[in-house]
Amino acid sequence: MKKIVLLGVISTLLLVASEGEKVFKAKCASCHSEFFSIEKLTENFMQRDNKLLNLKAPTLNQLSFRLKQQIGDPKGDEDMHRMEVGAFIADYLINPDKQKSVCMDDVIKHFDTMPSMKDKIDDDEIEAVNEYIYDYDKNLLEAKKVKNEKFSVALERAKKENKIIMIKATSEHCHYCKKMDREVFIEDEVIEAMNKDFISVTVDVSKEQMPLSINVSMTPSFFFVNKNSQIIKTIPGSWNKMDFLTILKEAKVANKKGNK
Ligand code: HEC
Repeated sequence: MKKIVLLGVISTLLLVASEGEKVFKAKCASCHSEFFSIEKLTENFMQRDNKLLNLKAPTLNQLSFRLKQQIGDPKGDEDMHRMEVGAFIADYLINPDKQKSVCMDDVIKHFDTMPSMKDKIDDDEIEAVNEYIYDYDKNLLEAKKVKNEKFSVALERAKKENKIIMIKATSEHCHYCKKMDREVFIEDEVIEAMNKDFISVTVDVSKEQMPLSINVSMTPSFFFVNKNSQIIKTIPGSWNKMDFLTILKEAKVANKKGNK
């Protein structure tokens, strides 16, 4: 009996997830595009007056991130936060008002107020689309971002594949670590460069020990390690995409020197 109930709950949850995507595609996507990288969006809104992408509304990845960042307590209880964000969206769909916007002024100034969806969307659809919006940003990041290995596995692979290990030190509430995840480690060029010559190891120093007894003074910090477990380069701090790509190049040069 219990099992049947549980199965029912699980399948309802799965249904909600895919329902949400369906509702979004049918009722929101005509105005809200799904995804553009932060770099493209910044160029579009800040430098090109929206002429680069000609967007009709904020994108889904912008919405997902901004709503969660601006509404309620992002660091508090997740179920509570989900409800708060959901309540904001539900209200906005019926009573849109640019004054309530969570988007940056430089973004929102390009748009007229969204038309109300009163009588065009029902409560179940709102609930489903809320879940989809809430989870979008996190799911996207998980699917796209550079993959990580444990240090021991990374060392084996570095020897076999002649690669450099990059140990990234992060911590739980590190704002700039999350910023880099969203703006750098999700970029195709960075993923390509990392996959070609590097193996990524991420260590949350608020929970785990660093390998090789490395001392960490700030997060994020990046430690490049060769296949003989020697640290060839240490880079503290947060970087944008171009700077980070340069750092990767420098790490390759340092690695060649060490291997001579
Ligand atoms: C006809 C075009 C259109 C459709 C359809 C549409 N939107 Fe919008 N939406 C906009 C525009 C334009 C804005 C930005 C201006 C504003 O905030 O009112 C916006 C803003 C929003 C915001 C507020 C963002 C902020 O600035 O805080 C939310 C939330 C939102 N939309 C959700 C949805 C959802 C969910 C759907 C589908 C159920 C949807 N929209 C359908 C055009 C649309």
